[in-house]
Amino acid sequence: MAESMKGLHRSHRCTEVTAKDIGASVTVMGWVQKSRNKGGIIFVDLRDRSGLLQIIFEENDIGAEGFAKAEKLRSEFVIAVVGRVEARSGAVNENLETGAIEVRAMELRILSEAETPPFPIEADSKTKEELRLKYRYLDLRRPDLQKNLMLRSRVATLTRQFLSEEGFLEIETPMLTKSTPEGARDYLVPSRVHPGNFYALPQSPQLFKQLLMVSGYDRYFQIVKCFRDEDLRADRQPEFTQIDMELSFVDVDDVIDVNERLLAKLFGEVIGVEVPLPIPRMTWQEAMDRFGSDKPDIRFGMELKDVTDLVKNCGFSVFSGAAAAGGSVRGINASGQGNMPRKKIDALVEFAKGYGAKGLAYLSIGADGSYKSSFAKFMTEDELAALVAAMDGKPGDLLLFAADQNKIVYNVLGALRIEIAKNLGLLDKSQYRFLWVTHFPLLEWSEEENRFVAMHHPFTMPMEEDLDLLDTDPGKVRAKAYDIVLNGTEIGGGSVRIFQNHIQEKMFEVLGFTKEQAYERFGFLLNAFKYGVPPHAGLAYGLDRLVMLMAQMDSIRDVIAFPKVKDASCLMTDAPNVVDEGQLRELGIAITGTESECGKE
Ligand code: AMO
Ligand code: AMP
Repeated sequence: MAESMKGLHRSHRCTEVTAKDIGASVTVMGWVQKSRNKGGIIFVDLRDRSGLLQIIFEENDIGAEGFAKAEKLRSEFVIAVVGRVEARSGAVNENLETGAIEVRAMELRILSEAETPPFPIEADSKTKEELRLKYRYLDLRRPDLQKNLMLRSRVATLTRQFLSEEGFLEIETPMLTKSTPEGARDYLVPSRVHPGNFYALPQSPQLFKQLLMVSGYDRYFQIVKCFRDEDLRADRQPEFTQIDMELSFVDVDDVIDVNERLLAKLFGEVIGVEVPLPIPRMTWQEAMDRFGSDKPDIRFGMELKDVTDLVKNCGFSVFSGAAAAGGSVRGINASGQGNMPRKKIDALVEFAKGYGAKGLAYLSIGADGSYKSSFAKFMTEDELAALVAAMDGKPGDLLLFAADQNKIVYNVLGALRIEIAKNLGLLDKSQYRFLWVTHFPLLEWSEEENRFVAMHHPFTMPMEEDLDLLDTDPGKVRAKAYDIVLNGTEIGGGSVRIFQNHIQEKMFEVLGFTKEQAYERFGFLLNAFKYGVPPHAGLAYGLDRLVMLMAQMDSIRDVIAFPKVKDASCLMTDAPNVVDEGQLRELGIAITGTESECGKE
C-alpha cells in the first residue's frame, strides 16, 4: 500500500544531515538500501542521490503501528521519515559521510513498495552489463553511475557559465536537417509531407555554426546531440553529445587559448586537477613518428624509432624488402621486458596482425647481453649491435619491429605501445596528459573511393604556405586543423575554416566534386559566403569522452544515462523496432529487405 506524503516536506537530502543538526528534527525521503531487524530495534540505510543515512526505528519512539510498518521495509521501498538527529549510538562508520550520526524515526510513511530488483543496487556492480542495461533505471540508482552523471551535469553547467562569460551565445541548430559532412553514415528520418524524401540527423552542427558566423553572431556554442551511424566502440555511440563552438575573426591560437582556459577550469573545479598551461603542442607528423598515432598517449614513453636506414641493406628480407618498397622499419623498446615469455610475445604478434601487420620481429636482450630473436640469424653481429644501439637496447629489454608501408607500421606500433603499457599497468587514470595535435594533413587518399577525401571536413583551411601544393601535390597539403588529445583519446577537434570562395572551390575540385555536386550538397553555405563572411574557426569536444576520462571510466556508456549497445540497439526500450503498417504507408515506405537480407542478423 502506498501512502501519501501529504503534510510532509523533505528538509534534507541524506548526506545534507550533519552533526550540526544533532537534536533537530528532519524529514528525509529516499530508497531503503538495507534494513536490519535486530528485534526491538530496526536499522535502515536510507539512500538518495547524495548518499546514505542511517535511520533507527524503536517502538518507544514510533509506536506499535509505526514499528510494525518498519518491520515490513525491504530493499528499494521508497519511504519518508520524520525523525530526530542523534550522534551514532553504535560505532562510528568511518566509511560513510554520515557515519557519526543517525536519525531516530518518529514517523514513517511507505510511499512505494518495491519488488526485489534483478540485481543489487551497489557500487562496483558485478552484474553483467546486459542485465544492467535492460534495467537501466535501476542501474542508474547505483552510486557510481549517479556520481558520473552528477559530474557530467557539473561539466555542462560550468561550460555554459565559462563560455557565456567569454562572450559566446548558446544557439540551437536543427535536428531535422540535411546531410552534414563528417564522414560517417547518416541517420535518416522519412518525411510524411514529402514522401520519398528524408531528413538527415546532424553528424554535427558544422554548417549551421558557420552560417551563424556569416550572420554575425560572432561567438556561438551549443551542447548538442550528434548522430553518426558508425561501428560502436568503447568511446563511440551512435548518438553522442558535443560541446560545439565557433568564433569569428580568429585564428588557431585564439581558439586554443579559450579552450585551454575552459579545460583548466573544468578540470580544476570539477575534479581538482590542475592543467598546466599552455598545453603542449605537437605536429601530426611528429605525433606519428614518435607515437605511431595522431592521438598519442604521452603518459609513458616507449616511443617509435625509425631504423629503416640502418637495416635497408641487411640480410633480413622482411626489413630490406619493406625499405625497398618505399615503406619503413620502425621499432619500440619495451624496456625491462626482455624476459617476456615466448607465449606472451606470440600474443603480441597476433595483436599486431590484428592491426594489419604481416608479422612482428622481436629481439630480447638477456641479462647477460645475449640475444633471443626471430631475425638475428639473418643479420651480422655488427648490424645487430647497431640496431640494438639505435633502439637504446639494454640488457633486459625487449625490442619489437614492424616493417611495412608507413601507415601500417604506425598503426601497428602505435597500438602495440598502448597494449604493452596496458599489460604493464602503466596507464594511470588519475594522471591527465593533454596534447594539441596540429598541422594535420588536409586530405587523405581513399583507396575505396579512388580519390582524396577531407581528413577533417571540406571546409577546413589549408596552411597558407601549402596553398600552392593544392595544384601540384594535394596529399602534402597541411591543414589549419587541431585536435585536443587527452591520455590517448581524441576529446575534441576543430579547424580554421575556408572563407574565401576560390579556395573553397579549389578544395571541392581536389575532392572530386563538380561545381554542380558541391552546390547540390552545400549550396546554402556557398551562397551564404557570397554575402560577406568573417574569417572564422571552431572546435567541438566529445562531451561523453571528456566526462569518461574525468570520471576515470573505460567506456562512454558509463557517463551516458541511456546508452546503446554494440549493435546500436537499446536493451531497455528495444529500439530500434518495427513500426506498424499504417505508419509506413503514410510515409510511402515499403520494407523490401529483412535484417538478414540486408546482411545483418
Ligand atoms: P569531429 O568529427 O572531430 O569534429 O567530432 C568532434 C568530437 O566529437 C567526438 N565524437 C564522438 N564521441 C562519441 N561517439 C562518437 N561516435 C563520436 N564521434 C565524434 C570526439 C571528437 O573529437 N564539426 C567538427 C568540429 C569542428 O570542426 O568544429 C566535428 O564534428 O571527441
Ligand atoms: P618469416 O620469415 O615470415 O618467418 O618471419 C620472420 C620473423 O619476422 C617473424 O618473427 C615474423 O613475425 C617477422 N615478420 C614477418 N613479417 C614482418 C613484418 N612485416 N614486420 C616485422 N616483422 C615481420
